[in-house]
Amino acid sequence: MISWTIRTKLTFWYTCILGGTLFLFGILTYVTFSYVNSKSIDIGLKEEADGIVHYAQLSKNNLEEYAIRISKESGEEWAHEKYVAILDHTGNVQFLSSSTADNYLHLSSHQIKDILSGKPYYKTVKNAKGHPLRIITMAMDDGKQMIQIGFVFKKDKTSRTFLMLLMSLGGFAIVGSLLGGRLMAKKALKPVEHMIQELRNIQTEHLNERLTVHPAKDEMNNLATVINSMLSRLEDSFSQVRQFTADASHELRTPITIMKTGIEVALRKGRTALNYQRILANTLEDLERLSKIVENLFILAKADAKRYEMHRERMNLSNVITDIADQLMLIAEAKHISVSIEKTEDAFIAGDELLMRMLFLNLIDNAIKYTPQKGSISLTLSKNADFVRVALKDSGIGISREELPYIFDRFYRANKARSADTSGGGLGLSICQWIIKSHHGNIIVKSKLHKGSTFTITLPAC
Ligand SMILES: Nc1ncnc2c1ncn2[C@@H]1O[C@H](COP(=O)(O)OP(=O)(O)OP(=O)(O)O)[C@@H](O)[C@H]1O
Ligand SMILES: [Mg+2]
Repeated sequence: MISWTIRTKLTFWYTCILGGTLFLFGILTYVTFSYVNSKSIDIGLKEEADGIVHYAQLSKNNLEEYAIRISKESGEEWAHEKYVAILDHTGNVQFLSSSTADNYLHLSSHQIKDILSGKPYYKTVKNAKGHPLRIITMAMDDGKQMIQIGFVFKKDKTSRTFLMLLMSLGGFAIVGSLLGGRLMAKKALKPVEHMIQELRNIQTEHLNERLTVHPAKDEMNNLATVINSMLSRLEDSFSQVRQFTADASHELRTPITIMKTGIEVALRKGRTALNYQRILANTLEDLERLSKIVENLFILAKADAKRYEMHRERMNLSNVITDIADQLMLIAEAKHISVSIEKTEDAFIAGDELLMRMLFLNLIDNAIKYTPQKGSISLTLSKNADFVRVALKDSGIGISREELPYIFDRFYRANKARSADTSGGGLGLSICQWIIKSHHGNIIVKSKLHKGSTFTITLPAC
């Protein structure tokens, strides 16, 4: 397939449209011109024939003589030869001013009938020399005879000149439109070429560069704006990926280093079985943390790639909360944390049950993790016609106002120093946020440092 540049295509179509229009215009003008021309010839012919008919009325005797005289007159600038014939009512020649055999039109009975009824008959034929011959045949006043006059056209110079003029003008116009169109297309596409040049210079390392947006509010301006906003999105996701990779490797490196060092130290000398047991238990703890981070990373990576297969169906959130509450009681008891639960019986949502469990487990895990011993946690499930609401309130360490906006960021762990003893990769809330978003819900956090936090989740009811 031939691949044309936009410039060539624009020029081609521009020239085609202009050429086509000119061609149609030329044909129309030429046809009109020729029609008017032939009409004036017919008028001339009719005048001549009328003259003869008129003369015949006045003097029947000298009609042939008169016809010969007429046929010899050559006043018209468009005819160089003419003949006059007198035919009887059957179409036979009674008199012919010219001796040339082909200078006479044979008529059919049908045509004769028409002519005798008073309708002049016009016809153009070619004579022996190939010249066009325009013939009129009309009835004499007595209705028994017909007069036929034929003119041999001179070569029609005016039409020819007119045609030549039209053709050369058309040719000039097409060549002009070809050159002009190319120039115009080049000018119109100049901003695109400029844009291509600018885009070529933007590398992945310099995604902060942007295209020049021209002030004119045209398509180029729109295109540049759209590309710029796409570059912004690309820049954001590139830097997110970079940040994510750096954070992930950092988070994974720490437990691996701790495990490696622990095992190296353990292997330096012989130890008692109890010692080995303790070291192995520590290593297992680190491994558990590592595996949780990897698991969370896997969920987030799938969510990012939109490859998580969600199975949303009508489900009663009340049942999920009941199950979660049982687990919550068990762990809270070990930490001497008091738990209160308040819930409505039926709270239906369209949700993925597995993800809903993951969401509340993460939130409860945080509540217990960040609430010191003898604290309290309350879980409330309420609903109205449109929404189902779950509020999880703890009397824990709280989150400072400065850190609050960041707690949903990946790997972000607020109050790091205070929670140093708690394990975690800082991915739990990122997963919660993704789950809530994909269920078209929202989450609001209210927290006061050293006083506690409340996480309120609202999901559309179904
Ligand atoms: N109930 C809470 N009370 C106080 N701080 C909280 C609470 N929930 C979350 N945070 C703060 O928000 C940060 C982010 O929470 P997130 O659940 O994402 O990570 P994590 O609990 O540290 O680790 P992970 O959940 O991946 O094991 C936590 O590190 C913690 O500082
Ligand atoms: Mg957490």
